[in-house]
Amino acid sequence: MIKEIKDIDYINNLSNYKVTLNNFNKVIGYYFDNKIIGFLDYSVMYEKIEINYIFVINEYRRKGIAYNLIKYVIDNYDFENITLEVNVNNTNAINLYKKLGFKIINIRKCYYDGVDGYLMEVKNDNFSN
Ligand SMILES: CC(C)(COP(=O)(O)OP(=O)(O)OC[C@H]1O[C@@H](n2cnc3c(N)ncnc32)[C@H](O)[C@@H]1OP(=O)(O)O)[C@@H](O)C(=O)NCCC(=O)NCCS
Repeated sequence: MIKEIKDIDYINNLSNYKVTLNNFNKVIGYYFDNKIIGFLDYSVMYEKIEINYIFVINEYRRKGIAYNLIKYVIDNYDFENITLEVNVNNTNAINLYKKLGFKIINIRKCYYDGVDGYLMEVKNDNFSN
């Protein structure tokens, strides 16, 4: 089951990534046996959505959980585009985003402590302004 997470302290102990809530961002969790096994942190800025971070607990990986978390956002918002930055060496995540239709549209030089990042985007052909 996927639903919005309010208990940010719990999420902040799952990985090194720390969520900071503001007016734009939301965190959704993937629940299994009442336990959060993956989460997605994203920002909704009017017609644009930015994916900030996605994480799945190691033993639950490669079961489609990250795919379904992002698909939930794609299916539930009327957005113009969704963008994200990813480390060029993070092949697993790049494959995930490509599978969801994201394309590399730019390179962010030295975005991650000296390592380049890709700017990736998926557009919504059905966006109604
Ligand atoms: C990246 C991450 C979120 C993927 O989560 P996941 O639930 O295992 O991903 P899914 O099972 O939904 O995989 C969907 C697709 O992503 C790609 N993918 C995911 N893990 C992969 C791996 N280990 N090797 C190759 N491709 C992979 C595949 O295309 C996969 O589709 P397939 O299984 O049909 O081949 C997870 O590995 C993770 O938490 N990594 C650490 C945090 C991180 O790097 N986050 C991204 C920051 S930008």
